Amino acid sequence: MEATSPIPKKQRHLSISQPSTPMSKCFALLCLAGTMYVFFLNHIVLPGSGMHHRAPGPHDIARHKRALLVDDSFYIRGDPLQGDHTCYLRDKLQSLWMPDLHSVFSDPISGQVVFVGLKLLKHRWHGDEFRCEFPDGQVSRTHVLRDGRSSGYFPQYVVVLTCPIPDTFRWRARFRLNLRRVPTNTSYVNVTVCTSGVSPEKRYKLAICTMVKNADSFIPEWLTFHRYVGVEHVFIYDNEQVEKSNLTRTLNDFIDEGFVTVIPWAHSVSPYKTYLEVQIAHENDCIWRHKHDVDWMIKIDVDEYIQPMDANRTHVITDYLSESIFDHVAAVRIQNWFFGHPPRIAPRGDSVIERNRWRSKLPTLQNTGHDKNILRPINVHYFKIHSVKLGGDVISADPHTELRLVHYRSDNLRARRFSLPDFSVKDESMVKLRNAALSSLMGQDSTTVECFTSEMDINMNTTSDEGI
Ligand SMILES: *[C@@H]1O[C@H](CO)[C@@H](O)[C@H](O)[C@H]1NC(C)=O
Ligand SMILES: *[C@@H]1O[C@H](CO)[C@@H](O)[C@H](O)[C@H]1NC(C)=O
Ligand SMILES: *[C@@H]1O[C@H](CO)[C@@H](O)[C@H](O)[C@H]1NC(C)=O
Ligand SMILES: *[C@@H]1O[C@H](CO)[C@@H](O)[C@H](O)[C@H]1NC(C)=O
Ligand SMILES: *[C@@H]1O[C@H](CO)[C@@H](O)[C@H](O)[C@H]1NC(C)=O
Repeated sequence: MEATSPIPKKQRHLSISQPSTPMSKCFALLCLAGTMYVFFLNHIVLPGSGMHHRAPGPHDIARHKRALLVDDSFYIRGDPLQGDHTCYLRDKLQSLWMPDLHSVFSDPISGQVVFVGLKLLKHRWHGDEFRCEFPDGQVSRTHVLRDGRSSGYFPQYVVVLTCPIPDTFRWRARFRLNLRRVPTNTSYVNVTVCTSGVSPEKRYKLAICTMVKNADSFIPEWLTFHRYVGVEHVFIYDNEQVEKSNLTRTLNDFIDEGFVTVIPWAHSVSPYKTYLEVQIAHENDCIWRHKHDVDWMIKIDVDEYIQPMDANRTHVITDYLSESIFDHVAAVRIQNWFFGHPPRIAPRGDSVIERNRWRSKLPTLQNTGHDKNILRPINVHYFKIHSVKLGGDVISADPHTELRLVHYRSDNLRARRFSLPDFSVKDESMVKLRNAALSSLMGQDSTTVECFTSEMDINMNTTSDEGI
């Protein structure tokens, strides 16, 4: 999932020949003009270009606005009448010599303003000091962590800045501040900071956090399944623009029941950062917002399911996480197991689980970019897609006897370009769990539930049937 093409590096060599003849003066002038042109290309920063990475000199800065005024039009606000005091940025903030910020909120419990953003390695901000300036003149300081933990052609770093909140602002639903980067004196001005939305009364033992874009048809079955295996709340970051998205309509019932929160997250991608940028930002936003109200947070996509594997325990995921050894870890790593159907079988129907009753012989190996995690947000500092980058220890669940990640990648149109394994083993354990989930939902026994399962049209051909 890492970005794949290297940045073409512009190389500038400038040599001026010695004797000062009229010709060479002319040549020197041409070179000077050329240099200025290249300088212009490199340093005129258009809003949203994301290219302002070189350490600036004083003249560079003088040419540009040093401050971005962040007014109310930058935000989508929750409905305070419904008790929702949150607000989210419509798109990430970008300004000259400042980190791109995807999110700003106050966490009254830890007493901090949290900024979540992203930067590339070439942004030389490691250790830079930032100031939060509050409206009454109080100032608190913070800095970007010196951090070398990333890899890939365009190493992307999470930037989490946390400013202590003075007592006068700590419990306010919203207030304004300026965020100033000290070495360059550049800033985001008049930034609205809304509360994280965490209420002390509500606490979830197990939640899911995910990001989607136009995947509405996958989600209801996925939600029903996970509610059955013990998930208490689902935070869905919607990468589609609010005006275009149908998600709150599709999930209306789940939202009304208080099971799902849809978060507007239509953030755009910058050059060299890819879709991954928006994904990493949503993960860290979710982790930092829910450090105090979520014990365990599952980080998966909507074509992935966490399956409890031990018939001797209940089907509830937290049963596997209740030993005290798990209190201090940052994550439980869940191994990936691909499910699908053999090419000569053409199943129909709306249910992803029913269509894909076959799996590969073995799970994918650990640490090959397929693992997913159940996180303890309180013990995680930075997270990136498949692993904790900075935080506590990670332990692995056994995919045969504890928990596994059932991954229906062949049904994910976006992922078709990946090569798929042979689906040689018939495995209907997920179908059984799905039926149990439906039957508990309908308050009916599982024979009745057969009526709700969609019809299969299988070009029957023998497959090895090892089961599990
Ligand atoms: C900050 O934003 C608020 C609301 O948009 C506005 O009333 C106020 O004048 C702004 N302050 C500055 C200094 O622009
Ligand atoms: C930093 O910029 C602000 C305007 O945004 C200005 O008022 C202030 O004097 C500057 N501080 C320094 C040290 O240059
Ligand atoms: C939302 O629904 C409308 C009407 O069914 C459809 O035309 C549109 O493409 C949908 N939007 C998205 C983003 O899926
Ligand atoms: C479940 O219980 C049975 C009978 O006690 C035992 O044989 C089996 O090994 C247990 N399964 C697991 C996964 O512990
Ligand atoms: C079943 O698969 C075999 C090869 O594995 C193939 O030769 C045969 O035609 C298939 N039968 C049907 C009915 O598709």
